[in-house]
Amino acid sequence: MFQNIVFQTPAVIFGIDALKQIGQQAAKLGAGSVLLITGPQVKKAGLLEKTESFLKTEGISVKVNIQDRDTPEPATDVVEATAEIARKGDFDVIIGLGGGSILDVAKMASALCTNPGKTEDYFGRERVPKRGKPTIIVPTTAGTGAEVTKHAIFLDRAINVKKVVASSNLLPNVAIVDPALTLTCPPAVTASAGIDAFIHSAEAYLSKNANTMTDALALESISIITKWLGPAFADGQGMDARYHMSLESLMAGVVLNNSGTSLVHAMAYPVGGEHHTPHGVTLSALLIACFEYVAVAKAEKMAALARAMGENIDGLAPRDVVDRVLDAIHYLIRSVDLPASLTDLGISREKTDIHQWAVEAHKEQRLLTRSPRILSVEDIEKIYENAFE
Ligand SMILES: [Fe+2]
Repeated sequence: MFQNIVFQTPAVIFGIDALKQIGQQAAKLGAGSVLLITGPQVKKAGLLEKTESFLKTEGISVKVNIQDRDTPEPATDVVEATAEIARKGDFDVIIGLGGGSILDVAKMASALCTNPGKTEDYFGRERVPKRGKPTIIVPTTAGTGAEVTKHAIFLDRAINVKKVVASSNLLPNVAIVDPALTLTCPPAVTASAGIDAFIHSAEAYLSKNANTMTDALALESISIITKWLGPAFADGQGMDARYHMSLESLMAGVVLNNSGTSLVHAMAYPVGGEHHTPHGVTLSALLIACFEYVAVAKAEKMAALARAMGENIDGLAPRDVVDRVLDAIHYLIRSVDLPASLTDLGISREKTDIHQWAVEAHKEQRLLTRSPRILSVEDIEKIYENAFE
């Protein structure tokens, strides 16, 4: 079969102490002044000061914006306020330094410098007409992949629903990925962000949008995360584990950007919306039930997944291969204290309107059209039901 492949990625600078290059990178983009968007944790960890000094050494003036928010995802009004600062200051470059949410705000604030209107106007696919101010995106967690994707997720405050801006014009100019910045990331965030990255790769790998380039990155990143998530969770100061988790998260982000997620992400929206559970934790609770349902469509790829996860499947029947993959995922999830079911997540089946969730998830056709198995509302209800067991 001949494939048509479009492959997009920002310039990537990866490595221990890569942060030191931020000044040169900003200068290359023509920065005399930058807006540096970050969060309180980054300041506490001493990373903000360091970053500022690398920029100032290059003669660049820095205005710092510390994000303060009251919701798990940044709300649209917070983005507006940040965009207003970015517009007024007429900065040459916008820098995002922090976890996925902060990076999303930086990407959108940059877009709103050159595009009129509000965030709400751009929810959906490819609706941002112009590129924003140049961006340098620097993650301090390993998982979201926001440094290499065209996506940004916000809470639409008016209706209390999470929505996505997915637009090529949001793709950062430069991603600086420095594993040393993740050393202070707490175990729970390490686990939840790490499993998010695993799902970006695994879901995209099984999806209809997969191609040879993203498949290669997906399998390698799955193999790395299977080996290193546990050690990174167990000892956050271990540079070996942090290095590998940052690398696999970057690879999974490129996979996400070019092949996209599907069912697990679609089904997580209504759950996260109702219970305000963190993104990776919510995905984790749904993952096994989702993969059990779609495995029938992708027997060969399930075998490759098993091998990437280090399983010996020689001589096994396809149904046993699927069991092996699900067992390996179950072990990975439980070994880092993540939920393997909605019950583990503390959600009560009796108090849940599964039908309503399924109707909501089914509306995410942007994601569901990539699913290897065609899913009706009833199918999705069954998966939710299974995810409680
Ligand atoms: Fe995700």
